Amino acid sequence: MNLSVQLAPKRKKGLRLANPVMTASGTFGWGTEYQHLFDIQRLGAIVCKGTTLKPREGNPQPRIAETPCGVLNSIGLQNIGVEAVLKEKAPVWAGWRVPVIVNIVGIRIEDYARLASMLDGVAGISGLEVNIGCPNIEAGGVEFGTRPEPAAEVTAAVKRATSLPIMVKLTPKTGDIAEVAKAVENAGADAVSLINTPRGMVIDIAKRKPLLGNKYGGLSGPAIRPIALHMVYSVAGAVEIPVVGMGGIATSNDALQFIMAGASAVGVGTANFTNPGAPLDILDGIEQFMAKEGVEDITELIGAGRG
Ligand SMILES: Cc1cc2nc3c(=O)[nH]c(=O)nc-3n(C[C@H](O)[C@H](O)[C@H](O)COP(=O)(O)O)c2cc1C
Repeated sequence: MNLSVQLAPKRKKGLRLANPVMTASGTFGWGTEYQHLFDIQRLGAIVCKGTTLKPREGNPQPRIAETPCGVLNSIGLQNIGVEAVLKEKAPVWAGWRVPVIVNIVGIRIEDYARLASMLDGVAGISGLEVNIGCPNIEAGGVEFGTRPEPAAEVTAAVKRATSLPIMVKLTPKTGDIAEVAKAVENAGADAVSLINTPRGMVIDIAKRKPLLGNKYGGLSGPAIRPIALHMVYSVAGAVEIPVVGMGGIATSNDALQFIMAGASAVGVGTANFTNPGAPLDILDGIEQFMAKEGVEDITELIGAGRG
């Protein structure tokens, strides 16, 4: 059976994954935290936590609230900063078989370009995921992803600054996500990933104030799955480049729905918090489905359920 997928078909070197199951940014640390728990080299790719130019402390606590069928988070991009990623993480990743994709996020377009050029050509880094939709920071970030023009501007700036494959991560906080996807495709994105988290909130009625320190957060988990699936379906119908689908994927059945909607690969996020082995369980389930259905190549399933 062939499970491998190509996420940057327009690039000479491409970005080939051994299988379509990736981790979603911010839910699997730097990958290093999990390497002693199970064989992370079996994953299709690891996407690391959002990386900024300078280290960030993140938002005030509490930063996590459970909701029905989901989680609200307002981490606020806590991370070690790009220099520490280059010094401490990339040399470890360089020894891995699994490709690592670095998620980058900035406040200004120049930040994205600078991050992209700093990460260019570094051993251990196979691609960039450009986050233009973080719901948890006040300025920048999410604002770029809400309309096609700024989304295209960020993409073009990153494209100019690096030779790495670029996957642009889209936010649901927009009028027509397919229009934003088309704009970043035209600006040179090799792939798109979606969805980032939509904003939500919880109020603590005893304290008479929002539960999260940042007042609002990003909603993830099964609660957003049907919305994410429909957005992946819409985007896959609008662009030629590969689509990576995520949002509430917890089982192989969920992952297969995204693949059949048109996703070439899937990201597993919140499910990692209850079962860090979820991505590999999902991979096993996809393989079992293919064996049962007599599917020899995963590409036969991509878009197979669009109707
Ligand atoms: C705690 C937490 C932190 C996250 N941090 C990031 C981040 O740094 N960058 C990013 O692009 N997405 C981030 N995300 C969004 C996820 O990568 C993913 O797009 C979203 O959670 C939907 O997938 P899921 O429902 O499987 O979690 C984060 C999500 C969670 C739950």
